[in-house]
Amino acid sequence: MAVSTHGEIGQQGYGSVAGVANKIRAAIESVIEGKPEAVRLALTVMLAEGHLLIEDVPGVGKTMLAKALAKSVDGSVRRVQFTPDLLPSDITGVSAYNQERREFEFMPGPVFANILVGDEINRASPKTQSALLECMEERQVTVDGTTYPLEPPFMVIATQNPIEMEGTYPLPEAQRDRFTARISMGYPSPQSELEMLDVHGRVSPLDNLSPVATVADVRRLVETVRQVHVAAGVKQYAIDLVNATRNHPDLRLGASPRATLQLIRAGRARAALEEREYVLPDDLQALAVPVLGHRLLPTAEAQVERRRPEQVVTEIVSRLPVRG
Ligand SMILES: Nc1ncnc2c1ncn2[C@@H]1O[C@H](COP(=O)(O)OP(=O)(O)O)[C@@H](O)[C@H]1O
Ligand SMILES: [Mg+2]
Repeated sequence: MAVSTHGEIGQQGYGSVAGVANKIRAAIESVIEGKPEAVRLALTVMLAEGHLLIEDVPGVGKTMLAKALAKSVDGSVRRVQFTPDLLPSDITGVSAYNQERREFEFMPGPVFANILVGDEINRASPKTQSALLECMEERQVTVDGTTYPLEPPFMVIATQNPIEMEGTYPLPEAQRDRFTARISMGYPSPQSELEMLDVHGRVSPLDNLSPVATVADVRRLVETVRQVHVAAGVKQYAIDLVNATRNHPDLRLGASPRATLQLIRAGRARAALEEREYVLPDDLQALAVPVLGHRLLPTAEAQVERRRPEQVVTEIVSRLPVRG
């Protein structure tokens, strides 16, 4: 369905970013009950040109959130259910011989979409997971020596069950690092669950969800977000935060420079969503756990004491003096 955006983001103001974003937010929230923070983070990641990892136990609406976000934008969406026998070429595409034209022809895989929903991504073998690596970082695909660019916007929304669950291959660190943020859903409150029963009782509200923004809208939003100002002090604060993870006694792997870049990008998106032209230390504090948490590895001792990297990030945020 085509959506007219007459005059909506014409002057590319921050107010219009929030306007379009709010429509997308409202569309998703018509489907996902009682999870405003998860929805907000999902939008933040989209505006930061990032990829989103939704990790939680089965049945809490992960797939639903991914599908709702994908459906609310009028772009191409592909969904791949990751299974142990999925091959890398099932994602990227293959070269096949065309008998008539006597040449090899590239058959693009599902990654050639604006939004790729990778469902239960950690059920596929590490080899297949890594086929996504080049696509996510470089926004291109190389098959048989030929490189094909992916059209922006390109966003991977992946869901996974916690790694302790059966039949999963943990995502390699390199791949986790490519996700801008990891969010969890959590159980709904009793009130929200009751609403879910009423609204979702007979039909899935996903069926009634139509796009509220175009791909061109998203590109313009992204362009505006890129212009959000980051003061020197705020940059320094981001660097202090990541450095604290690199030197922390409870962590054996700290945050990468890629993480620093993505933290700042996500900070810009969060600011724009609040109609602010500049990033505040608050933005980085709010994003520190979802943006940094999944990239960190605890030491053996921390693991034994069940100190999770997210707790370490929270502790760092509360301890470090704020700059900016
Ligand atoms: N917060 C929620 N709001 C609305 N529906 C929900 C929520 N959490 C779970 N559901 C419902 O639970 C069902 C399972 O959700 P799904 O997205 O398939 O779970 P997951 O992918 O996490 O295993 C969906 O049909 C959805 O209707
Ligand atoms: Mg699911």
